[in-house]
Amino acid sequence: MQKKWRLGLSIALWLVSVHLICAHNEKSPTALSIKEGSDDHSKGEETLLEDEDSEDLEVFRPTDKWQTLKPGQAVPAGSHVRLNLQTGQREVKMGEEEVLKYWSDGNRYSDGTMYPSFTAEELKEALKKFKKGMDDPEDSKQSAVRAQFRPIEELKKDMEALDMLVETDVQVMRRLLNQFNNTNSTTEEKITALLDLEYLVHQVDNAQNLVSMGGMQLVINVLNSTDIRLQESAAFVLGSAVSSNPSVQIEAIEGGALQKLLTLLATKRPTSVKKKVLFAVASLLRHFPFAQSHFLKLGGVQVLNELFQTPGTEPLRVRIITVLYDMITEKVNILMAAENSELISQVGMDIIPDSSHQERLRQYAEVSLLPVLVEQGWCSLVPELLVSPEHDCREKALRTLLAMMAQCQTQYKQNPALTASLSELQIQYQELVLTEQDVGEQDGYFAEILALVDSMVVKMRQV
Ligand SMILES: *[C@@H]1O[C@H](CO)[C@@H](O)[C@H](O)[C@H]1NC(C)=O
Ligand SMILES: *[C@@H]1O[C@H](CO)[C@@H](O)[C@H](O)[C@H]1NC(C)=O
Ligand SMILES: *[C@@H]1O[C@H](CO)[C@@H](O)[C@H](O)[C@H]1NC(C)=O
Repeated sequence: MQKKWRLGLSIALWLVSVHLICAHNEKSPTALSIKEGSDDHSKGEETLLEDEDSEDLEVFRPTDKWQTLKPGQAVPAGSHVRLNLQTGQREVKMGEEEVLKYWSDGNRYSDGTMYPSFTAEELKEALKKFKKGMDDPEDSKQSAVRAQFRPIEELKKDMEALDMLVETDVQVMRRLLNQFNNTNSTTEEKITALLDLEYLVHQVDNAQNLVSMGGMQLVINVLNSTDIRLQESAAFVLGSAVSSNPSVQIEAIEGGALQKLLTLLATKRPTSVKKKVLFAVASLLRHFPFAQSHFLKLGGVQVLNELFQTPGTEPLRVRIITVLYDMITEKVNILMAAENSELISQVGMDIIPDSSHQERLRQYAEVSLLPVLVEQGWCSLVPELLVSPEHDCREKALRTLLAMMAQCQTQYKQNPALTASLSELQIQYQELVLTEQDVGEQDGYFAEILALVDSMVVKMRQV
């Protein structure tokens, strides 16, 4: 699969390159058009002499940020072009040096070495001389012909230039890592490099490349740097790199990421840092029972507990219980799916037991989160979130309360504040559901929350 996909991508990139070359030769040597199905290849010399001007093309002005390129837009030489695999769009940007080089003197070939081809001016000169039949017709003719049918060596050179032009993600990442790892870089430069990396590592392959280039360890190491902005950006990169990427999750755990993240959560840091750290923790734990066991052993629940109760961290509370809720439900879902497949195999359908699935089940069985939650007082902490004015927060709290029902029911029953909150919410959401129905919504968001409240009330009454 992966190989086929890579092959397809290589072919696509090659086609783009070929197209770029064609455009380069036929239209304007100073601008690379990647317009597809361009139909004006028939332009003769007249047009070339009189009309051909790079201003005729819609020339994209790259900046130092990646920007999406629209079809038909030309990019100046020296731009970095890449294919965004998520959107399928081509994106362009310029490196700082190139921005300066390009815009300061308006001469794209100022270095004279990178793009060894004829400029528009040279071409025009040659053709003018040729037309007017000037002093040295042979010579001019030759150069004009040379200009149009360029030797293969030059095309090869252009190919190489294009290779440089289309900087691959791996090259970009190498450059960013060097910028980040260079002791001479300022903190600002390092942060910029991290944020650019964060964008790239959303792609599974790039996140794996980050690991193989040694970048993951650099990122993990900087989690305990003295600069909080570096800590924050590093946590952000880490969280994005491990999201839905099991092999990278393993590397992060082995690189000691979880311990460092928990240290950041357990010590005094600005909320913005803790938000990114919680994001990284959640991504690291998701669908990774080994990391979840590790989290429990490292006292992760205790760390979250203290953070939850620290004054001033209210904005983090819903994120904290989301981490816990996700872990609870993930295990429940896995075990339920396993039971279902057992039922199916009992009725005689062929389900080949897969050893890695068995191993997963065994690992999930080891994650014993609920008893720890009860022991550390979450049966009475979670109800506190119900007083939040935010629907989203209440919803998360209700779902978590329900998920802990079996373990917490006794404590819930003895909690008058919880009973009061639930009665209040019941009245509030009954009214809100009516307003929803007034606008024709039967199963709206408020109805969903009301169902959760009702379910809490019913389940708390059960013996
Ligand atoms: C850092 O800057 C110094 C002085 O400009 C230079 O000699 C050194 O090679 C630079 N180090 C790196 C890693 O670029
Ligand atoms: C970071 O820099 C150090 C020395 O400055 C070097 O040994 C190491 O290989 C670099 N790491 C990466 C991933 O570039
Ligand atoms: C970060 O922690 C590691 C070990 O956990 C240590 O070797 C390193 O010096 C620390 N870095 C900073 C900047 O404190």
